[in-house]
Amino acid sequence: MAAHRYWLATLAVIVVAAFVHGPAVAADEGLAAWAKVNEVFSHPRCANCHVGADNLPIWSGPHYGSQPRPHGMHVDAGASRIGAENGLLCMSCHGPRNAEANHGPPGAHAWLLAPVSMQWSGRSSAEICAQIKDPQRNGGRALAEIADHVEHDALVGWGWAPGGDREAAPYSAVQAAGFLREWAGHGAPCPSP
Ligand code: HEC
Ligand code: HEC
Repeated sequence: MAAHRYWLATLAVIVVAAFVHGPAVAADEGLAAWAKVNEVFSHPRCANCHVGADNLPIWSGPHYGSQPRPHGMHVDAGASRIGAENGLLCMSCHGPRNAEANHGPPGAHAWLLAPVSMQWSGRSSAEICAQIKDPQRNGGRALAEIADHVEHDALVGWGWAPGGDREAAPYSAVQAAGFLREWAGHGAPCPSP
């Protein structure tokens, strides 16, 4: 009888441990995948375009010197995010391809700033994580669509082929999309603020 009770207790411990352990491990793996996503999103090649309501693109990263600063030449993207308000469109300098000269304008299909709701520059990993899951702020995308966007979008792709001596974003488009899918598959956990 005593032995019987012992085995029942052991079984209970195993069952409880499996329940507690399962989601905790999933959360750890999800958070590890998110950390890699955040490494990409917060990299200058991405964050320089994902800026806030001041509508100023950023020049930052090793190629631009030690201090991040607003885009030179008084470029102001305006609420249009393409510079329509002040008559100096992004596309008048940023063509469909990177300029050959090292500090020449980089290029990709239809160059413009990301919407204000998609600001990442100056934001923490927890903040970016929360907004990327929010359809009100991510362009109405499901998480699978975010991963597809990262894998296939031309402006995102530029981050891995930025031209000149600019440092490319870490990993690759395919790997970054993979981290997003892994994160989503583990319940898309966010780090605590
Ligand atoms: C007068 C020409 C000109 C206009 C207009 C212009 N840019 Fe640029 N932009 C440049 C040049 C040149 C560089 C690269 C400078 C360097 O490498 O030192 C650049 C770099 C950038 C970068 C940095 C990319 C990186 O390496 O991370 C961003 C972001 C950017 N521009 C956004 C914009 C946006 C958005 C607009 C429109 C609102 C715009 N630019 C309008 C000339 C221009
Ligand atoms: C030249 C500016 C520019 C650069 C560089 C850029 N983006 Fe964006 N990004 C945009 C614009 C514009 C949108 C809005 C497109 C839309 O919603 O269809 C956007 C939207 C997104 C979205 C949609 C969801 C959301 O909440 O933001 C993701 C994800 C994204 N970008 C990832 C990246 C990554 C990763 C990089 C760097 C490897 C990057 N972007 C570099 C301009 C840029």
